[in-house]
Amino acid sequence: MDSSQAVNGVSIAQPFVLCVYGSPRIRGNTDVLMDRFVEGLEAGGVAAERVYLRQLAFSPCREIYACRDHGACALQDDMTPLYDRIRDAGALALASPIMFYGLSAVAKAFVDRCQALWSLRYLRNERVNRAPGGPKPAVFLSVGATRGQRLFEGALRTFRYVCDAVEARPWQSVTVPGVDRAGEIFQHPDALDRAHRLGTELARLLRRPHV
Ligand SMILES: Cc1cc2nc3c(=O)[nH]c(=O)nc-3n(C[C@H](O)[C@H](O)[C@H](O)COP(=O)(O)O)c2cc1C
Repeated sequence: MDSSQAVNGVSIAQPFVLCVYGSPRIRGNTDVLMDRFVEGLEAGGVAAERVYLRQLAFSPCREIYACRDHGACALQDDMTPLYDRIRDAGALALASPIMFYGLSAVAKAFVDRCQALWSLRYLRNERVNRAPGGPKPAVFLSVGATRGQRLFEGALRTFRYVCDAVEARPWQSVTVPGVDRAGEIFQHPDALDRAHRLGTELARLLRRPHV
């Protein structure tokens, strides 16, 4: 999905946010959280491109290391077109439930496949981010069933590192403990409101003219 606008005869790409749904559960808690964030984005006039990882057929990283030489992944699967979308997006959002104190398996597979972009950035010294400005803002949305103080630490750290790989910067996060069965997120209206608000704020940020 690529929208563009003509200004003085010059075509200008409109920013979009790549919203990556990382739960294996259909209409699970992080889906709801991400949907609310997307509603905020759209209310702010910025398009979301939704990617449901559970619907894609893609392999985890297989350490072929073609990316070291070519800056691109040798695997050809449903992850392949996402590299361009990650690079072109004005901002990124990743939603994942906590599983064994980290990301879900499918979200982690997505993150690991971003190693190809890490190689592009750090081994070939190429710009990964194709959106205007510096590293693009990135949002992390998560829930977990338990309430330990360190529940989100591992996932947040992974998120920070993948942001660096894809030339993004962690901007904001919404992390909600004590959420387990599908739909329990609705018992946390404050978190849902915050996700919506972040969407609107991010839209405002992306619509600011870049100098
Ligand atoms: C395989 C698996 C591992 C999980 N590990 C954790 C965990 O380490 N800590 C925790 O608090 N919750 C854990 N949970 C609970 C989920 O984080 C929780 O059910 C969450 O609401 C699921 O979000 P979703 O509906 O977006 O998938 C785990 C759930 C599953 C299925």
